[in-house]
Amino acid sequence: MAEMKYINALQGLLANRRRVNGLVATRERMRQAVDNQTVKLVENTNDLHKAADNQSAAVNERLDRLIEAATNQATDTNKRLDDIVEAITNQSTAANLRLDRLITAVRGGGSGEEAPAGANVAAAQGDGGAEKGGRTKMASSHSASTGSVADDTATIQDIALIERFSHEWQANAYDYQKSLNDLRASARRLLPILSTPKADGSRLKSADMERLRAVEKETACLARQPLFFPEMFHGVSMARDGTFRALEPGEALHLRAAGILDNKDPDALKEVWDRISRNAASPLRAVEIGSAAGRGSTEIAAQYVKRTGGTLYCIDPWGGSWYFTFLANLQIFDIEHTVIPIRSPSVDAAALFDDGSLDAVFVDGSHIYSDVLADIDAYLPKIKNGGIMFGHDLHDLPNRFDRNELLSISNINNGVVNYTNANGDVSRVDVHPGVILAVQDRFGDDVEHIPGSVVWVKQL
Ligand SMILES: C[S@@+](CC[C@H](N)C(=O)[O-])C[C@H]1O[C@@H](n2cnc3c(N)ncnc32)[C@H](O)[C@@H]1O
Repeated sequence: MAEMKYINALQGLLANRRRVNGLVATRERMRQAVDNQTVKLVENTNDLHKAADNQSAAVNERLDRLIEAATNQATDTNKRLDDIVEAITNQSTAANLRLDRLITAVRGGGSGEEAPAGANVAAAQGDGGAEKGGRTKMASSHSASTGSVADDTATIQDIALIERFSHEWQANAYDYQKSLNDLRASARRLLPILSTPKADGSRLKSADMERLRAVEKETACLARQPLFFPEMFHGVSMARDGTFRALEPGEALHLRAAGILDNKDPDALKEVWDRISRNAASPLRAVEIGSAAGRGSTEIAAQYVKRTGGTLYCIDPWGGSWYFTFLANLQIFDIEHTVIPIRSPSVDAAALFDDGSLDAVFVDGSHIYSDVLADIDAYLPKIKNGGIMFGHDLHDLPNRFDRNELLSISNINNGVVNYTNANGDVSRVDVHPGVILAVQDRFGDDVEHIPGSVVWVKQL
């Protein structure tokens, strides 16, 4: 009996052990399952993170596109608004013009072509301040030579408009753009007064004529070649979309109204051209080597050559857009029928001229020693007996400098060297060593230097 009890108890124990083993196995499986689940969870979480990241990148991208579209839309809307404003303005100018004619006709003013003074006040009041003068002018526009009181008022307002934008243009760039048509119209009315002052300008009081003379270049520039106006007078380039870019300092220097000649140089050049043209029996044939924008020596030379009915050949390679600037200036100064531009290095172009065929050659191209020598050598034979070779950038007679010092910097455009003036005083000055050395090589000191300027002259 007792054995049976033990056997039963033992079986019970074995059964329990089996159950325990089963439980251990189950626990192992469950742990395995939990581990697997955890790995999946981590994977899923990573996937979720990735999906969220992608989603937010897509959302950001769409937001960027939306912002861009909204910006374009706003720009487009602004542009359309500007167009509308311009159209309305033009419309109102046209309507005012017709109203002026009607008023004149009703008052028995004849053909109705001329508007009475002040008839367009309403139109002016509706415009922006910067445009008042111009729009009033357009409405009352008529020939500058009619001589009526209204006409004088119109002309003075024209001067004021051009003066204003000549002096304050940068601050008024936007208004300038809007007023460009008015400015051009004013310039076209004023230019004949400047061209024929006795016939048309005698009506204007001399104080007004003085004001007009002070803006003469701006007026000519606007009337004859408005495209280049901002570049030339304000050192700013205007793109087609109306935005502005400051010119490089070098560009601005060349393009400013006076060109790049120093104070006394224009007078010195005029003096030499006066000598060349004074006794000219036939139309002058002259060459200018190095013309740049055409606002300095070219303008002066061409006016003298023009008076003789002659031709000025301007030789310059004109890199980039410089050539177009030069052509624009020919129009502005009304010398396009006098000047023949030759876009080439000077020495190559020399072959175009017969020996002894030129009255004068002005040398102001490359200032490097070997180039100046080459220019003198190539063109000296082309000049007639009794003709003149002259040039720019000779600070003073060659013997006022130390030749050895010049030679030590002869391969550069300009540098500072010792200079002894007529009184024996020594100072340091910035010069073009190549010009001084080349002039000395070919002419020694038998060359004229025009005092106060950097112009040298060799009478042949
Ligand atoms: C000092 S600027 C001339 C300035 C001009 N005479 C004036 O009064 O405004 C020199 C000009 O020479 C031109 N140039 C340079 N090398 C040249 C060459 N080998 N032949 C002709 N012109 C040259 C340049 O393009 C530049 O326009």
